Amino acid sequence: MNSGIQKLILSASLLLPLNSLAASDSYLNANLSSDRRVDLLLQEMTLDEKIGQMCQFVGEASDIDFDSKDTKTDYTLALGARAGLIKEGKIGSFLKVSTFEEANILQGLAEESRLKIPLLIATDAIHGHGMYMDATTIYATQIGLAASFEPELAELMAEYTAREMRATGFHWAYSPNVEVVRDARWGRIGETFGEDPYLVTQMGNAMVRGYQGKDFSSPSNVIASAKHFVAGGIPYNGVNGAPADVSERTLHEIFFPPFIGSIDNGVYTIMPAHNEINGIPAHAHEGYLTDLIRGEWGFEGFYVSDWMDIQRLETAHKIVDSEKQADKVAVLAGMDVHMQGPGFFDNVKALVQEGEIPQSRIDDAVSKILYAKFQLGLFENRYTSQETVDTTLLKKAHRDLALKTAQKSIVLLKNSGVLPLKQGVERILVTGPNADHQALLGEWARVQPDSNVITVLEGINEQYASDSTIDHIAIARHDLISKAELSAVSKSAKKADVVIAVMGENSLRFDPNKTSAENVDRPTLDLVGNQIELLKNIKASGSTLIVVLVNGGPIASEWLTENADAIIEAWEPGMYGGRAIAETLVGKINPGGRLPITVPRSVGHLQSFYNYKPSAFHRGGFYLSSRKPLYYFGYGLSYTTFDYTDLTVPKTMATNDSLTMTIDIKNTGAKDGDEVVMIYLNDKVSTVTTPVRKLVAFKRIHLKRGEQKTLSFTIDNKDFALLDRHMKSIIEPGEFDIIIGDHLKVATVMVEK
Ligand code: GLC
Repeated sequence: MNSGIQKLILSASLLLPLNSLAASDSYLNANLSSDRRVDLLLQEMTLDEKIGQMCQFVGEASDIDFDSKDTKTDYTLALGARAGLIKEGKIGSFLKVSTFEEANILQGLAEESRLKIPLLIATDAIHGHGMYMDATTIYATQIGLAASFEPELAELMAEYTAREMRATGFHWAYSPNVEVVRDARWGRIGETFGEDPYLVTQMGNAMVRGYQGKDFSSPSNVIASAKHFVAGGIPYNGVNGAPADVSERTLHEIFFPPFIGSIDNGVYTIMPAHNEINGIPAHAHEGYLTDLIRGEWGFEGFYVSDWMDIQRLETAHKIVDSEKQADKVAVLAGMDVHMQGPGFFDNVKALVQEGEIPQSRIDDAVSKILYAKFQLGLFENRYTSQETVDTTLLKKAHRDLALKTAQKSIVLLKNSGVLPLKQGVERILVTGPNADHQALLGEWARVQPDSNVITVLEGINEQYASDSTIDHIAIARHDLISKAELSAVSKSAKKADVVIAVMGENSLRFDPNKTSAENVDRPTLDLVGNQIELLKNIKASGSTLIVVLVNGGPIASEWLTENADAIIEAWEPGMYGGRAIAETLVGKINPGGRLPITVPRSVGHLQSFYNYKPSAFHRGGFYLSSRKPLYYFGYGLSYTTFDYTDLTVPKTMATNDSLTMTIDIKNTGAKDGDEVVMIYLNDKVSTVTTPVRKLVAFKRIHLKRGEQKTLSFTIDNKDFALLDRHMKSIIEPGEFDIIIGDHLKVATVMVEK
């Protein structure tokens, strides 16, 4: 077609009103597939506009008074240069946006750009839309969800969180954190699903499904982000972001599976880890990001760097000597979106123009980012409203689930017969730094309105309004209990029948006194500060001592284990945690959670996990100390008892078959309760070493007192496989033990060719 006619058609098409463009073969035509719209839009984009999609900035601006008459002007002015960059199409996404008003203003600036490409607004909505400025639903944190052993809860939590995100104009959750934890000193354990690859995989898969639905095409879906790739849970000294020095075998057996699971469930973004893995920083690892994850695992989405981690290739890892080289190495390794700020755009543009980065790499990155925007419906649905916000946030169904996540996550660690508390208890003293504190909310949550949070003290008052005296001695800090506080507690404890001491950590993101969470790792696993002194004083008073722990990572205290009359591990149970804890104390809830992470005897006993190799302790153990942890992965008590009978396992299984087994479980106690049935495998003889136990299936069931159920499990033959000496996955014929729980029942199956 000659240029004259081309010009005529082009000029005619520009005269067409937008909606007729939408009817034509244009990227604005919502009837076309997202893939087709990506192709059409890519053809129209300049290099600047393409690189702009790879750039993320923060939406933070000086405090804007959204009640002021001219919010839009105030915020736009506060954005400074960012406003102009958006209008030039040089920013593709934002994080650290705080309100729906800001999101709408940002989208309005993007609609002024030449191609009107909407922005992705991202946030760390990991257990509720917790970083949003106004009140939202805050659920139990990941470690508590893992303790519930109910992936369905995690899926629904992600689904409801996505709804509250979209209602406020947010589209991208930096979640799930599917890291496996092998060092309990790491401060971020509360946002992980613990130490077992299978449990982490199942929980992560569930959250991806909850956030994204089938294909993130519904207006209540968001895109998820499996993070952080990889092995941040086994850093030097447990310090966040420190190097991970892990064998390829352990990476494949322990740390990779949850990411493979998320990819198989369609996760659309992946966030590499801060740390290096065996000498190569995750953000510069083309062997993993491109060859392995895209090439072998089939990842079709895009990568987002973690906070300033591309820059850290120069400043922390020192594998390059300039930010421009850092950008080059990261983008060539497979990085698609830069978190965050200026510098990246100019460097990448120059690198493309200098032929250092091929245009095809840019097109590949941009096409995936655009695909998300089309699929999420952002071109047609880029704004939200106060009414949508008001009718979606904190819906009753969301709040009911928040309570349920708390109830189901609680683990009963010790009970010398004092729980459940009798109704007629005369005098209860409630004390401890977490007795009346929003540390219940955990990491990645802002402080919520007090009226939206039920603390432990408030929960206990709900249960004992009338016929008991509830005393409360407030403890101001987690890390330092004053002499006056210690003395007041000792005095009051002497008069109390029962003392409920609510202890542990504080992971609240913006609390200056936080004792755990991101970049707050622990050199000890003891109770922080002088909390143990408070407990010893209470013990000395002669009252019954019930300890409730609110924490993300395990708390290891032999004194506590030996001296408390009861211990409840409540993790970070969310906005209604206090009610769930009180219901558990009085027996309205029978605790059914199980440990998703081993509780070592002390920090000196690290590394401590249940799936250790057979020779781990074959030469004995520690000097003057047991090698056994305080509590293994999978441990948890109940107010009732369960009996396992009639384990039926086929005597033989073919290597290309799967194994179906059944087990009867009966509630033999006086209370209804939940039991988590866990199935482990042990390969009795293998040509490479294999763990003494490996979780391959679990199911949480509810049994009324006296009720019996038969459970059937099918174990896939891939669970019998191992990586041989050449790292090839094979199933070796031979005997395998099928272990129920902690050796409640064992059966042997012969796997045959
Ligand atoms: C942090 C965290 C990451 C989070 C990101 C954005 O450094 O490592 O998990 O998603 O920054 O807040």
